[in-house]
Amino acid sequence: MPFFSNLGSDSPHFGAALSACAPLCERSLWGLDPQAVFLNHGSYGATPKKVLQAQSVWRERLEAQPVQFMGEELPRALRAAAAELAHFVGAEPENLVFVENATSGVNAVLRSLRFRPEDQIACTNHGYGAVRQALQYICAQWGAIPVEAQIPFPIAGPEQVIAAFEAILTPQTRLAVLDHLTSPTALIYPLPELIGLCRERGIPVLVDGAHAPGVLPLELEKLGADWYTGNAHKWLFAPKGCAFLWVAPYRQAQTHPTVISHGYGQGFTAEFDWVGTRDPSAWLAISAALAFIQGVGLDNIRQHNHTLLLQARQLLLEALEGIPPAPEEMLGFMATLPLPPFWQQWIPELPLGERARRLHDYLWYKYRIEVPIIPFAGQLWVRISAQVYNRLAEYEQLALALQHLP
Ligand SMILES: Cc1ncc(COP(=O)(O)O)c(C=O)c1O
Repeated sequence: MPFFSNLGSDSPHFGAALSACAPLCERSLWGLDPQAVFLNHGSYGATPKKVLQAQSVWRERLEAQPVQFMGEELPRALRAAAAELAHFVGAEPENLVFVENATSGVNAVLRSLRFRPEDQIACTNHGYGAVRQALQYICAQWGAIPVEAQIPFPIAGPEQVIAAFEAILTPQTRLAVLDHLTSPTALIYPLPELIGLCRERGIPVLVDGAHAPGVLPLELEKLGADWYTGNAHKWLFAPKGCAFLWVAPYRQAQTHPTVISHGYGQGFTAEFDWVGTRDPSAWLAISAALAFIQGVGLDNIRQHNHTLLLQARQLLLEALEGIPPAPEEMLGFMATLPLPPFWQQWIPELPLGERARRLHDYLWYKYRIEVPIIPFAGQLWVRISAQVYNRLAEYEQLALALQHLP
């Protein structure tokens, strides 16, 4: 079922929603460069000043008496912060731990598992680069084989994801690694259906939900996954280094942090809550991030971002004479769009990745527009994000900048 079904561009409310698409928040609430057009919330998020101030208060408390803080205050404060985040993502607090980022969450799981030679790990070709590398590493260690489902892009609908993924599952599949919202193509995968396919076959599922918290409603205890990792520093406005790993109770005994420390053997949360001396302020500031969201209103944010995204996508597709590469029902707050043929043929003697980097840099240095250019499936794409501080005029600037070669 589409997550934003009442907001599609064919909805009678779309026009009204569009005209109301002024920024929902003053951009000055963020430290973003006022001269820049920032259309890339997706890569690293952007943290409101208020949340950073709350993080600083935690740091000051730590530094006032580090020994007391780490030994006495932190264990309780960390569990309280985990409980708040757990509530937001539909999880039991004792099943959720903080990690520094989704990459760490994925690595903790992959490096906890044991495989035999020829075991297969199912994943898809839209997976995030770092996660695909971690899979390569694990497979090289054990002699296992990563098997990538080839999900088409452009894509007609979620059923194409389901069909392509089902086709690669075999009796040798020992694990599935699935995105919730893909990075290069910004697609919402039909996760419940994909997990269903795995459960029917007894295949454990690790979900890379790096982009999902804040974009999609989450009910982790009901989803049916075995592990789920997500970032709070992207769409939940938390400081960098705030992410979580949820683990189903029956998987906790076999799941360990990548760094083993004092908590080893003392249970799941004890192992992850202390991984050596570090700055825990980003994790503790989750409360301030969730309060910021509550202040603006989660529904307001979701409505604003998704509507602005669809409007911006339409504007860019018209300006660049492109065809929508995905149905609206597969989009959240980001969309990946094809660049016109003249960009595809620009400096053809260079590798695609290098051309993507040069176009990104051109947009930044000439126009002060930050937007990722994605080399994917042999083509160049542009991935736009929509956030509460963005306005439609910024996407118009991007469209103008992309209408001709340098
Ligand atoms: C799907 C996906 N997985 C994992 C990551 C990695 O996130 P992090 O750098 O916070 O570990 C990203 C980052 O954009 C992503 O898009």
